[in-house]
Amino acid sequence: MNSEGNSYFCTTVQGLEYFLVQEIKEKLQVEQVECKNGNVLFSTGSDVDSLHSLKSAERLLIKVDHRCVKFPNGRGKCRKKIKQITESISTWEKSLQVWKHFQERQNNIEDECSVEAESCNSGETCNNDDVWRKRENDSEHLDKRMRTETSDSDVAMDAHSGKSIERGGMLKDDDENQHLSMETSEIDKLSYNNTATENVRFRITCKCVGKAKKYHSPQEFAICMGTCLARKFGWQIDVRKPQLEILVFVTPTDFLIGFPTTHDYLSKRSYIKKTGMRSTIAWCMCQLAELQSGHLLLDPMCASGIIVLEALKSCKKVYCIGCDHHSRQLEQAALNIQYASMNETMQLMQTDAKGIPLKMNSVDRVICDLPFGLHHNTHIDIKQFYLSFLGEVTRVVKSNGRAVLLTSAVMVDYLIKVMTGEKSRLWRVVSAEHQNKDITDKDEEAVVEMCPSVACWIKVETHFLKVGLASAYICVFRKK
Ligand SMILES: C[S@@+](CC[C@H](N)C(=O)[O-])C[C@H]1O[C@@H](n2cnc3c(N)ncnc32)[C@H](O)[C@@H]1O
Repeated sequence: MNSEGNSYFCTTVQGLEYFLVQEIKEKLQVEQVECKNGNVLFSTGSDVDSLHSLKSAERLLIKVDHRCVKFPNGRGKCRKKIKQITESISTWEKSLQVWKHFQERQNNIEDECSVEAESCNSGETCNNDDVWRKRENDSEHLDKRMRTETSDSDVAMDAHSGKSIERGGMLKDDDENQHLSMETSEIDKLSYNNTATENVRFRITCKCVGKAKKYHSPQEFAICMGTCLARKFGWQIDVRKPQLEILVFVTPTDFLIGFPTTHDYLSKRSYIKKTGMRSTIAWCMCQLAELQSGHLLLDPMCASGIIVLEALKSCKKVYCIGCDHHSRQLEQAALNIQYASMNETMQLMQTDAKGIPLKMNSVDRVICDLPFGLHHNTHIDIKQFYLSFLGEVTRVVKSNGRAVLLTSAVMVDYLIKVMTGEKSRLWRVVSAEHQNKDITDKDEEAVVEMCPSVACWIKVETHFLKVGLASAYICVFRKK
C-alpha cells in the first residue's frame, strides 16, 4: 500500500455511525472522516490488521469511486450514464491491487493458523485471534435472529437475484448478453497490459437507497456495470463463487462503489462461535459503559453472552456475570466463553432477572439487551417486567455505577421515566391499567416498596438505532 494511504469506507448499523467515526479517528489516527448515507468514508495508510480491528464496522470496503450523480429516470438514459461512469473510473485496477494485498494478508493469516493449530494439537499452548479466525470457518451460521436481519439487507442488495442472470453467471433475456459472452473471451486485455488483473471472477451487488429505489432497479445497475467491466478488463462474471465482490450504493444524489476486504463481515467475530445480538452494537454498549479494570459487570439477560464477550475483549481485567433464565441460552453462552478462553473472568448463572442473586451495591456496571416485549402477552406485562427488573438493577448497582440498556422504540420513554423518577404518574398508569381501577396512594407505596428507589438514575445519553426493521435505543444511565 502506498504511504499516503488508500481510500476506504465502512458500513455499519444505522445509528452507530458516530461510534465508528470516533473509533476510526482514535484507532487509525485519521482526522478527516466523512459520514454519507450511513457509510463512513476515510483515507489511511494503516495496515490490514489495524483496519480489520475496527469493532463498530459491519464491513470494510476499499473505495473504488464516490461521486455525486443524479441518474436520469429513463431506462436507456440511465444505462448510458452507468456505462459512461464505469468507463470513466480510473481506479478499478489500483483498487484491485489494494484488494489483492488484503487477500494476501488473509491467506498468510490462514497459513499461520494452520501452523498454530498443528502446534495446538501437539500440545503447545495457543490462544490467539488468528487461530479463532481460522476456527471460525467451521463455526455454524448466524442464528435465526441474525439470519433474518442479514437476509433483509441481502434481498435489498442482491442485484443478481433477478432473472436476467442465470446461475452460471451469464446474462440472459437481455441484449447485453451477446456482448458479454463474446467479449469476455476477447477482451482488449493487451491494452491494459496487466496480467495481475486477469481472470478475476466477480459479482456486483447493488443497493439502491431512498428514492433511488423507486426509480432504478439494482439489477439494471449491476448488469450494466458488470458488462462494462467484463468488456474493459476481461474480468469474468461469476455470481455463485466470485473472488471479488463489488458493492454499489446508489442514492438519489450519490454513487459509491467498493470492494469488501473480507468475504465475511468484520462484525462476524473470530472469537464468537454462537451468534446472538449484533457484536457491533454490543461493542458500542461496552464503550458507553466506560468499563475499567477491576469492574464487576453484570448482564442479567445474557442469552449467548455477546455483550460479556465484547466487554472482556474491550477491557481485559473486567469480571463478568452473565445470567439468563433459559438453560439452552446459557449453554450457548458457555460454549462461547469456552471458545474464547474467557472462563477465568466470567461466570454464568441461571436465574430470573426479576430476582438477581447478588448483594446490594455489588456491581459496577450493568449492560443489557432488554426484551422488546414481543413475547409478552400484553403491554402491561412488559411494563410490569421492566419495573421489577429495573428495581433489581437499581438494588445491585453501586452508587455512581452505570447501566447501559438496549430497548425498543416503544419502551424507551417508559424506561427513561422509571429510571429517572417520574414514578408517580407512571406507576399509577401501570397499576391502574393492570388492575383496571384507580390506584390509591397506598397501592402506589406498595409498588415503591417492591422496587425500592428505582428512580435514582441520571440519564447520561441515548442513541437511536435501526436494526433491520426494528427501531431501538441504547440508553445510558448513571446511578446517583
Ligand atoms: C433480547 S435477548 C438478549 C440478547 C443477548 N444480549 C445476546 O447477546 O444475544 C433476551 C434474553 O433474555 C432472556 N430473558 C428473558 N426474560 C428473562 C428473565 N425474566 N430472566 C432472565 N432472562 C430472561 C431470554 O432467555 C433471552 O435469552
